[in-house]
Amino acid sequence: MRSEQVIINGGVPLKGKISIQGSKNASLPILASTALFEGEVVLHNVPDLVDIRAMLSILEYLGARYTFEKGCVRLDCKGIQNKEVPEEYTNRLRASSLLLGPLLGRYKECQVGMPGGCKIGVRPLDIHFSGFKKLGALVDGVESGLVHIRAQDLKGEFTLDMPSVGATENLIMAAVFGTERVVLRNYAKEPEVMDLIHFLQSGGAKISFEEDHGDLVIEGVKTLHGTTYQVQPDRIEAGTYCCAALATKGDVTLAGVNPKSLSSLLEKLRTMGGGVDTGDDWIRVYYRGDFIGTTVKTAVYPGFPTDLQPQIGVLMTQAKSASHLTEDVFDHRFRYIDELLRLNGEAKVEGRTAYIEPSHLSGCRVEGYDLRGTASMIMAGLCSSGVTHVSGLRHLYRGYEAFIEKLQHLGADIAYL
Ligand code: EPZ
Repeated sequence: MRSEQVIINGGVPLKGKISIQGSKNASLPILASTALFEGEVVLHNVPDLVDIRAMLSILEYLGARYTFEKGCVRLDCKGIQNKEVPEEYTNRLRASSLLLGPLLGRYKECQVGMPGGCKIGVRPLDIHFSGFKKLGALVDGVESGLVHIRAQDLKGEFTLDMPSVGATENLIMAAVFGTERVVLRNYAKEPEVMDLIHFLQSGGAKISFEEDHGDLVIEGVKTLHGTTYQVQPDRIEAGTYCCAALATKGDVTLAGVNPKSLSSLLEKLRTMGGGVDTGDDWIRVYYRGDFIGTTVKTAVYPGFPTDLQPQIGVLMTQAKSASHLTEDVFDHRFRYIDELLRLNGEAKVEGRTAYIEPSHLSGCRVEGYDLRGTASMIMAGLCSSGVTHVSGLRHLYRGYEAFIEKLQHLGADIAYL
């Protein structure tokens, strides 16, 4: 049984070098899309996380066979059948909704339980459903927790109301075997979506971008052949350590990450006065003396990632001047601020904006309520004077490989309770 709590003695600057895991948010849609394949698929650099194991258990339930060792997943997809995916499987992770697209695309029908996931706001699937309908599917709505969708063929054009990552991924996967073109507009451009596209292309999918409008065009193929693919690094894990390095007045180098995928964060850290050096596949963040507050608004890519909002929120408490932090992607992603107040943080939330003042954090017992919020509470404990107990590590195990061990490697005085 994995520990649910850590104890932290704050005030130690993080120093040293760590490597970055494979991307959770690229691995999940890529794994879901293997339901489109009939041969063997080999994936490298897959992080060993609770959410990844949950997705693999759904694929195994559908008939896939797999091995998962040292970041390498070998999947034999020929046994995959179109079965109803019950809620007991799908309510364990939001990304279970990503099975709708591949099952609909391959079998022209699917029945999938409604997803679970973080409590960071209402997480509807209306854009997914309106996209499927526009492309010719019949969405029977949600009956006893199950989504039932049927389609003879998927074709035509669809403009997303907002560039939803999951909806973009589902619609691409649903259109891979269509008989005619599917054109998507206002689609999500996150690096993880591009990784899914590159993976599908490696299996023979015909996906391209129209030069002038940048429309995404999917032309149907008959089947996808087996392939081997390397998942991209996890930019959100990397961004989390960038914030922790500066917040603890440390000096940390991250190996195996593309700095271009984090340009909005790195620009903000530089604006605040942090030291940031980068190479092709590494980032170094270091303390250069007092740093100032800033203004951040989360947005779809290439804007500031919502998945780094709690982390920069904690960093902002260590700045020498005030900051404004606006969450424009999710509805309820400030729950960690309540816990920050318990640590003597100076912050208040009005609508979609948190106003964060320079704070002298003082350790106590705090709780993490979602994946990024729990990582941020641990970050806050690292910056607090005295001892901090953080509970809620079950959320952390969903998205960070060896988070506590990596912090220990960087010198943090942190231990499982
Ligand atoms: C993906 O979630 C990520 N998860 C999230 O990361 C990430 O925060 C999010 O994209 C935004 O970048 C995975 O990739 C597994 P969305 P997803 O559809 O696809 C609204 C993490 O911490 N919306 O782009 O669910 C929605 O409510 C997780 O790793 C609709 O209104 O995100 C939200 O407010 C958290 N209708 C916004 O759009 C829809 O049909 C963004 O959602 C779909 C979404």
